[in-house]
Amino acid sequence: MEHIANHLAALNFYIDSGVDEVIGTTPVDRFAESQTAPAALAAGVRAAAPSSALSLAPGRPAVGPGATPAAIPMPPRTEAEATARALAAGAADLPALRQVMENFDLCPLKKTAANTVFGTGNPAARIMLIGEAPGADEDRQGLPFVGVSGQLLDRMLASIGLDRGSVYITNMLAWRPPGNRKPTVEETTMCLPFIRRHIELVAPRILVFVGGTSASILLQRSDGITRIRGRWFEYPPEGVSNIAGEAARPAMPIFHPAYLLRQPALKRLAWIDLLAIKARLKDIT
Ligand code: URA
Repeated sequence: MEHIANHLAALNFYIDSGVDEVIGTTPVDRFAESQTAPAALAAGVRAAAPSSALSLAPGRPAVGPGATPAAIPMPPRTEAEATARALAAGAADLPALRQVMENFDLCPLKKTAANTVFGTGNPAARIMLIGEAPGADEDRQGLPFVGVSGQLLDRMLASIGLDRGSVYITNMLAWRPPGNRKPTVEETTMCLPFIRRHIELVAPRILVFVGGTSASILLQRSDGITRIRGRWFEYPPEGVSNIAGEAARPAMPIFHPAYLLRQPALKRLAWIDLLAIKARLKDIT
């Protein structure tokens, strides 16, 4: 029985690491391959998958030894984006937005995620926090920030007198990227209409971007979190359309708790940022 448990543990580890396909049964020397690939590409040649290729996922292109690893099939970017925009615009309230996102099948991340992680906390809160994407715990429970970084986030909020009853929390992406990899530009772009509408519907007085991903995408900035944390910006940034001419709201990027867990010395700066948020909230009735 023990060996079965070990195999299951190994399989779970692979799944958590983003491995979801059997590629082949014989080893492949990728170093040798990368030396020949440029010449083949220059000649306009694409490696063909041998007929012995294995694929566990029906409908996906077969891959095998010597073949280029299969990319997750992407719908045409404009179609997915345009569909998301139309669906988000038509959602009149948060339950409607949750529903259209749960029915949205054009984001490849949804195929590997267990749950659509929508949001948690108080939708009438004055402050809305936006992280990057669900991790394994969030995917399992269907709620944002419930794993170790969520526990640190709770402690950070508690330090300025906030809790899940006084904030609203969501993520840029509602679906977990396999193996917690960084979301791609295509993924964040096609999901952008959903988070924009989410912000409009919650209509918080203050936005907090938890980590560099949500900050850089929603503020349209290319500078990293270390440069922009602790500063007040306006959301939406200039040039991005706003609902019914509503005034822009203050938005501050802060370090992601997962980053603080790896770099505890930065908690000092995070504390300064939290105090600035607390002071701003005091000014808002
Ligand atoms: N990291 C995030 O950005 N969001 C979560 O919900 C969990 C971890």
